[in-house]
Amino acid sequence: MKRSSKTYLWVFSGLALVTLGSLVMTSHSHAQEQGALYMDIGQPLDARVEDLLSRMTLEEKIALVHADSKFTSAAIPRLGLPRRWLSDGPHGVREDVGPDTWKPAGRTDDFASFMPALIGLAATWNTDLATAYGKVIGEEARQRGKQIMLGPGMNIMRTPLNGRNFEYPGEDPFLSSRMVVNYIRAVQAEDVASCAKHFVANDQEWDRGTVNVEMDERALREIYLPAFKAAVQEAGVLSVMSAYNKFRGYWCAENDYLLNKILKDEWGFKGLVMSDWAGTHSTDGSVLGGLDLEMGTDVLPYGKFFMADAFRDGVQSGKFPKSLLDDKARRNLRQIVATKSIEGRSPGAINTKEHQAAARRIAEESLVLLKNENNALPLDADKVKSIAVIGENAVQLQHYGGGSARIKTFYEVTPLEGLVRRVGDRATISYSMGYAEKQNEELANQAVRAASQADLVIYVGGLNHRLLFDAESKDRVDMKLPYGQDQLLSRLVEANPRTIVVFFGGGPMEMGDWLAKVPAVVQAWYPGMEGGNALAAMLFGDVNPSGKLSCTFPKRLQDSPAHALNNYPGKDGTVRYEEGLLVGYRWYDTKKVEPLFPFGYGLSYTRFEYSNLSVSPAKEGKDGMLVATFDVKNVGSREGGEVPQLYVEDLKPRLARPVKELKGFSKVFLKAGEQKSVTIPINRSSFAFYDPARRAWAAEKGDFKILIGSSSRDIRLQDNVRLTQTTFDK
Ligand code: GLC
Repeated sequence: MKRSSKTYLWVFSGLALVTLGSLVMTSHSHAQEQGALYMDIGQPLDARVEDLLSRMTLEEKIALVHADSKFTSAAIPRLGLPRRWLSDGPHGVREDVGPDTWKPAGRTDDFASFMPALIGLAATWNTDLATAYGKVIGEEARQRGKQIMLGPGMNIMRTPLNGRNFEYPGEDPFLSSRMVVNYIRAVQAEDVASCAKHFVANDQEWDRGTVNVEMDERALREIYLPAFKAAVQEAGVLSVMSAYNKFRGYWCAENDYLLNKILKDEWGFKGLVMSDWAGTHSTDGSVLGGLDLEMGTDVLPYGKFFMADAFRDGVQSGKFPKSLLDDKARRNLRQIVATKSIEGRSPGAINTKEHQAAARRIAEESLVLLKNENNALPLDADKVKSIAVIGENAVQLQHYGGGSARIKTFYEVTPLEGLVRRVGDRATISYSMGYAEKQNEELANQAVRAASQADLVIYVGGLNHRLLFDAESKDRVDMKLPYGQDQLLSRLVEANPRTIVVFFGGGPMEMGDWLAKVPAVVQAWYPGMEGGNALAAMLFGDVNPSGKLSCTFPKRLQDSPAHALNNYPGKDGTVRYEEGLLVGYRWYDTKKVEPLFPFGYGLSYTRFEYSNLSVSPAKEGKDGMLVATFDVKNVGSREGGEVPQLYVEDLKPRLARPVKELKGFSKVFLKAGEQKSVTIPINRSSFAFYDPARRAWAAEKGDFKILIGSSSRDIRLQDNVRLTQTTFDK
């Protein structure tokens, strides 16, 4: 039917009126809200949240508890709530994907700084650097318009094979706790929410989406929960991500014991629990089990998410009490209001000089000097005339690997580039790949020839972010160096005894008989965008290494507890943590198994002496009830950093305990000849173990040893302490 132009005019003006009307409505209702209490940034957070919640419709509350794209939840324009953006990951702000796919969005404004892996941050043992790290993440997330950053990961290194060990702070709950607390506080100080993940016991990638984890209550409380508890109670983390796996038979995303009983009731967590992506399994289970935000479910349209239409219908039918939805909405609103989503945030910053300096400093302090015979290191730039740089990791870019932790980085200084920058003006530097995915005889022969013709070899090998190494969704198949590196290293050191070995990798590796022959070995983890500069600075002595292992390097895989007891990757869909508390050094020390390199170990270009330990009652108001005080002196010829570690040994435990447990540390920097007095607080929790019968932490009267070490196996000082009374803390 032909319509007159008049008709179109009416239609058009009608549309215009409707649009104008809705704009007026929106802006009116928004304006109406303008005077609302929740709009008043001077009001307390909870008051603003309650006011906002009271104004929301059922549909609006439901919109808060599920995604409306890969990494967002819907805006609520009527109330002035913008779309909420979440982003990976622990090492920087991931490139944008989606909206409904994992494929990159193809943007050109989603580059970010590529920070060192968290296993390396932990190896700095420097909580100030965890703060610096979090500040970078927070500023860059704000600049990229993200409200929740999906990190830090804080699962425990139970097996050396976990493909995501690189993303986590290692094997010890105390070190992990100290590092994640400062990281989270710093991120959240930038009006960005952190996310403690993956809650809990996602300690392997093998079958992560289906495996059921069984462990006793003490292992849960003393090993796998502490970092999460610290994130909640000390850092006030605004979100937690439930793990993919089951725990004691129930999906973590709908685990009443974990999410409601422990996280929310016992710990008082007021933030939101989000699922891992596609880690939600049912409406009833997640609604009743404590999930507050469903992300990544593999279904479209988003109304089909478990906590979307089905949840709404359940509330309308009375199946689910409105209070349940209100609680979930409230938890989301707390994060939304706390991160200034309503009033808006100041601009952030991306890849600034400060960010680059932080990345460099963290990388430098993460490097662990594992061997340095006859002071092979540091190298003298004026004396080295030719260097054969060998190994794929000297040139391999790492930023875009590993899975969800990948980064589209502005730049990444490789080890080769760092060496060329540092000494390329005076030394002849050759490069040989040495190995490739397939052990390649010709590559090896070239490398050996290059080694024989140079003053010095700098070998950069180890692992990488390819699947079956340090990459999400798979685990390593063994602890060996891949691509025939052991054989290559034996040939290289034969051709040139001055072979300095540098490893990239997210965890321990077995080392062949070349280890006894090479003069120096450095563990570099994944040192990020400034890694090549940091490594060159350390090798040539501009920086004195101060890193300490955040995980034990066992001699062989079978020595490690999960493998010694044949409890990895599990049987018939269940993995049993039969080793209980004895994870990492707790196992090796208690079972007297000699590691290759112990937890907390790392050499320096100088030496430190410890003396005068006294353990005395803390002065009123000082941290903890006791304080360990001792002197550390730099007795070498150059300044350096040291990490005295405090371990507690319960001499007659009522329940089985590891022979020692890390309960304190302090990183100190000393000039040559300088001595400093170091104090480490010791409080009741330093002596306590979890008593399942009383469901409380017991610090029981009895005799303990306070051990001060330069590593878990290099105890320099010790003192006895007697607790004269028993206390129980919930
Ligand atoms: C992944 C990871 C999680 C990540 C999320 C979004 O599967 O387990 O750490 O944050 O999905 O990419």
